[in-house]
Amino acid sequence: MTSSRTSNLKRTRCKPVFVLLSLLVVIVFSEVLLAQQPVTLSIDASVTGAKIERDIFGQFAEHLGQGIYEGVWVGPDSRIPNTRGIRNDVVAALKALRVPNVRWPGGCFADEYHWRNGIGPANKRPATLNPNWGGVIEPNSFGTHEFMDFLQQIGAEAYLSVNVGSGTPHEAADWLEYLTTAQPTALEKERAANGHPGPYKIAYLGIGNESWDCGGNMTPEYYLSQMKIYSRFVRNFNPAQQDKDKMLKIAVGPGGDGPRWTEWTDAIMKAYAQHTWSWDIDGLSMHNYTVIKWPPAYKSVGFGETEYAEILKKTLEMDALINTHSAIMDKYDPQKKVALVVDEWGAWYEKLPGSHEGFLAQQNSQRDAVLAALNLNIFARHADRVRMANIAQMVNVLQAMILTDKEKMVLTPTYHVFKMYVPFQDSTFVPVTFNAGIYKHGELTLPRIDAIAAKDKSGTLWLAITNLDPSQPVEIDLALAASTAKSATGETLTAPKVDSINTFDAPETVVPKRISVQARDGKLALKLAPASVTVVSVE
Ligand code: AHR
Repeated sequence: MTSSRTSNLKRTRCKPVFVLLSLLVVIVFSEVLLAQQPVTLSIDASVTGAKIERDIFGQFAEHLGQGIYEGVWVGPDSRIPNTRGIRNDVVAALKALRVPNVRWPGGCFADEYHWRNGIGPANKRPATLNPNWGGVIEPNSFGTHEFMDFLQQIGAEAYLSVNVGSGTPHEAADWLEYLTTAQPTALEKERAANGHPGPYKIAYLGIGNESWDCGGNMTPEYYLSQMKIYSRFVRNFNPAQQDKDKMLKIAVGPGGDGPRWTEWTDAIMKAYAQHTWSWDIDGLSMHNYTVIKWPPAYKSVGFGETEYAEILKKTLEMDALINTHSAIMDKYDPQKKVALVVDEWGAWYEKLPGSHEGFLAQQNSQRDAVLAALNLNIFARHADRVRMANIAQMVNVLQAMILTDKEKMVLTPTYHVFKMYVPFQDSTFVPVTFNAGIYKHGELTLPRIDAIAAKDKSGTLWLAITNLDPSQPVEIDLALAASTAKSATGETLTAPKVDSINTFDAPETVVPKRISVQARDGKLALKLAPASVTVVSVE
């Protein structure tokens, strides 16, 4: 009796546990199955969206750590091969990226930069300080002419960030006159005497940097009062830039999510809606780094899947942030005349052990390649509003394209993504339909894949697909909505581990490989490795 009661009790207690367990097994099993299922992806090339401006592939180069000195500038007397002091290897690598524009000289550095220190004979330039970034000496050897020479060597446009923090409208106005006038003024003569008789082209003017923080801790109202003065008086006189090719002015915008930032965007855009003939803006900047803890504590190399998934989840917040600020901009500027310019973005990790305080030196892994692709995809999907972006930063700082050590140079996984995405520059967005699926790690849920498509100027169709899952490959069944796909050819970037990096000794651990598939039975099947980025042209 007792024993049967016990066993009955056991049975009744067992039932819910058993049901729960079976449910769990079914869930886990179906998740595993789902994570292994092919993804059907369809592109309707007959429908086109906004132009994906090549400016979203812009770079940011600040006087910070070894971003300029050593990374770009080695001086004309260096043993490192250079052209007028600018490293040839770095120039060649950047030329291959077709860099559209470079933002310079900062960042926080810009709001303490006095341009006159960086012109004239090299041996007469004063040594000043760089209090923002390690308190090191700023030799001013890389100044206005060197920057413009560098741009000319790599074929990029200038995005000049003028000093609103510690400078004056007068100083900035003089800088622009010095750079752009063709009239024989005193400043024009000085420029000619310094080696450049003709006016320079300045495509973009940033009016301040993070004026709500390192750029002067201003309230939106105070910043607006300054910005209007700069917008009015900091003129571009280049005769070739008066009409269609006019210099675009970019105001300081938000630095994140939350009321502080939405209020900032609202204030600037509200003022814009009431602007008069005497001042104007063409862009609103936005800064958004992928950083989980502050100060940045995540490692740039030597991490596992949890940190991989956490960082990627964080980076995907860029989409919501753009939605939030675009919605405010739409309210005051429904015609989308003002561009949202994401002129500082990228991963910000803990500094490399042993590196200089304030130099923001970090490694760059396959995780960063995936992160870069996800952000570029987000910008492309918002191409009607996001018309410019600048990754931070170009060489040796934060999520860099290139790392250097004296005469050595290595291209990072992020570099390769930017190179693979070159066909998307100035292309036209084409919608892609797919079920992103799920990549799950512990409590974290992310999309399994992401994809964008576009048509380039010659009509070629391009597709970029990212497989976020670090352990499962994904098979893509690709179809064109209006015709039959014949082949897909391009490159894929994979790596042995999510934290694989390229080093000076092993520079080819993460490099793109050719990928080519032909249709079989009218089906185009692309097999993509775990944690990979792939770009193909589809015929
Ligand atoms: O990119 C490094 C710094 O981050 C920039 O100088 C500043 O604008 C931002 O806070």
